[in-house]
Amino acid sequence: MAPEEARQRIAELSEELERQNYNYYILANPTISDYEFDMKLEELSRLEKEFPQFLLSTSPTQRVGGGVTKEFKSVEHRYPMLSLANSYSKEDIEEFITRIKKTINEEVEFCCELKFDGLSISLQYEDGVLVRAVTRGDGTRGDDVTTNVKTIRTIPLKLQGDFPPFFEMRGEIVMPLDSFNRLNEERADEGSQLFANPRNAAAGTLKLQDSREVAHRRLDSYEYYMMMDDLETRFSTHYESLMASRKWGFNVSNFICLCKNVDEIFDFINYWDEKRHELPFAIDGIVLKVNSFAQQQLLGFTAKSPKWAIAYKFKAEEVETELLSVDFQVGRHGTITPVANLAPVQLAGTTVKRATLNNEDFIRQFDLHYGDTVSVVKGGEIIPKIIGVNLNRRKEGVEPVKFVTHCPICGAELVQNEGEVAWYCPNTLGCSPQIRGRIEHFIGRKAMNIESLGEGKVELLYEEGLIKDVADLYDLTYDKLFGLEKVITIQDEYSLLPVATRKVSFKEKTALNILDALEKSKNVPFERVLFALGIKFVGETVAKTLAFALHDIDHIINASVEEMTQIDEIGEKIALSVRNFFDDERNIEIVNRLKAAGLRFVVEEKQASDKEQVLAGKSFVVSGVFEHYSRDGIKETIEAYGGKNVSSISSKTDFVLAGDKMGPEKRKKAESLNIPIITEADFEKMIGLERQEEFTGLLF
Ligand code: IVH
Repeated sequence: MAPEEARQRIAELSEELERQNYNYYILANPTISDYEFDMKLEELSRLEKEFPQFLLSTSPTQRVGGGVTKEFKSVEHRYPMLSLANSYSKEDIEEFITRIKKTINEEVEFCCELKFDGLSISLQYEDGVLVRAVTRGDGTRGDDVTTNVKTIRTIPLKLQGDFPPFFEMRGEIVMPLDSFNRLNEERADEGSQLFANPRNAAAGTLKLQDSREVAHRRLDSYEYYMMMDDLETRFSTHYESLMASRKWGFNVSNFICLCKNVDEIFDFINYWDEKRHELPFAIDGIVLKVNSFAQQQLLGFTAKSPKWAIAYKFKAEEVETELLSVDFQVGRHGTITPVANLAPVQLAGTTVKRATLNNEDFIRQFDLHYGDTVSVVKGGEIIPKIIGVNLNRRKEGVEPVKFVTHCPICGAELVQNEGEVAWYCPNTLGCSPQIRGRIEHFIGRKAMNIESLGEGKVELLYEEGLIKDVADLYDLTYDKLFGLEKVITIQDEYSLLPVATRKVSFKEKTALNILDALEKSKNVPFERVLFALGIKFVGETVAKTLAFALHDIDHIINASVEEMTQIDEIGEKIALSVRNFFDDERNIEIVNRLKAAGLRFVVEEKQASDKEQVLAGKSFVVSGVFEHYSRDGIKETIEAYGGKNVSSISSKTDFVLAGDKMGPEKRKKAESLNIPIITEADFEKMIGLERQEEFTGLLF
């Protein structure tokens, strides 16, 4: 394609995709199919790679991430980011209205909005283009998080309509509850600490260095406030400005209500206090704003907040109860989590009997004693949480809660990793909750999917001595299974306390189903087998990345920390954990037994039967831009001829296939390891493809 044609097509696709993005995310009214959207996005991405000079800062391809922010630049806010005064009762709101009426001797209308529970963001637009996104920081200066914010699909990169040439939009970045739950599930799989609530998760996500991971976590944003010089000459009310901004492309909530008195305001507050749990994101109150800009100007500001607005905070759902005892739970990775057993109490519609105490620091921070009266909340958090101790009610002579020094299950002395607060049981292969946890993870739906071995059966097989590790599963036979029977105790997933009993028995059908599921699991692709091994910090996504980058288990087993950290998205923490896992001979033995059982330990190649496998056994690292192929295209060609692609150069790489603009670091690395660097033409010779010289003149 000629450069001018490419420039035009890139502009056209960018505009159309951004418009479709608006239709889909803001209007919830898509006008093309997901497939068409993806095809167009792919075309755009291909053209931008081929013609990087035409890549626009507003390109919809930025939304999938890729940019890395090594350090977030601190920048000054053009307009300070103030906060809001809080109120907690009808009296507080009545007082607020009375105060306002003292200055304004006319009718006042209030714009009532949801108070989003996330973190505030300032979005700066120049000529309709998002040029900068800054966090609140200390209100005067914040961090420039533009690259990460561009991945949020409800934030427009380019506006439409009659927007002002320069203005700022303020809003809230939130993590929707489904994104939050998915993220915590992934973190639980990886053995990473869970986020306590969506706000913390959103804050943690916005500060990630890798914007691809930010994109993956699916943040969302709602805008609620416009800022510019002479705003009141354009609009006379806040509501009007919000409605206009919605037309320009901003995600403005539908749940806004104009109210004239305290009763109308309280109808809105009470409605959302009850219905807030039905929203797909967390809110923690209602914000009231004087609607008229002229009246806002009369009212002005205090040093910290506008006098024309107030936040009404919903009551934290909090109760006091007694701390009865503390259990120490052992996780799949050996982490010891203290769990409080509480005198049962009603909270937000459920009976709460337990709460997490997180770790030793948490117990110390509250100086917890047995019998203490503790305050428990359940506000958007996944599990109830202790937020305070009522010292006035501490009984005399009570004992402080002490963290255990030895594993409550196997008795091993606990250890602590440098820089971590958590204590671990080091008896990885001999401590029953860790062993069972690993087996349960292995058979899980996202891992080997051996569903028929679900709840209770693993426990029975473990107690019968039939499975001590995941490899033992493949030694099970009909004779070993048939007839096994036991009444088992079902434990609470979280506290491991008994909650019910159930009879588990292996009749003919059960035994056959299990053997069948085990057989089928031998076809589970390598990336899922790797995930199933349960290596700390290796969740589903990381397992895929490692499998595709290093191709087979032997490369992974032998990869150094340095080799692994060269792979996109693999940091030192993950690499060290993988290395530790495979440095343990017992894990290698398990892998060898699983290999012998027939599980897949190599990434499945796309085979092209009609092509000669002339590159069989050869590994390639592809780098740079090519004349006749897209990057993906040349990789597919390598695979079609039996070769394999690896993403980072190691001593095991056979060739580096270099196009234009190959990175200097890669070149240095290849040269230092003496790995041949070949050109596109060399590659084509290898696969027996001779291109005709381009026709440049007359043939005689
Ligand atoms: S207006 C001048 N509207 O609540 C203040 N803030 O506690 C402009 N918030 O920092 C803020 N929802 O992060 C406004 N509908 C809403 C809001 C909202 C959430 C946050 C915002 C602010 C904090 C104050």
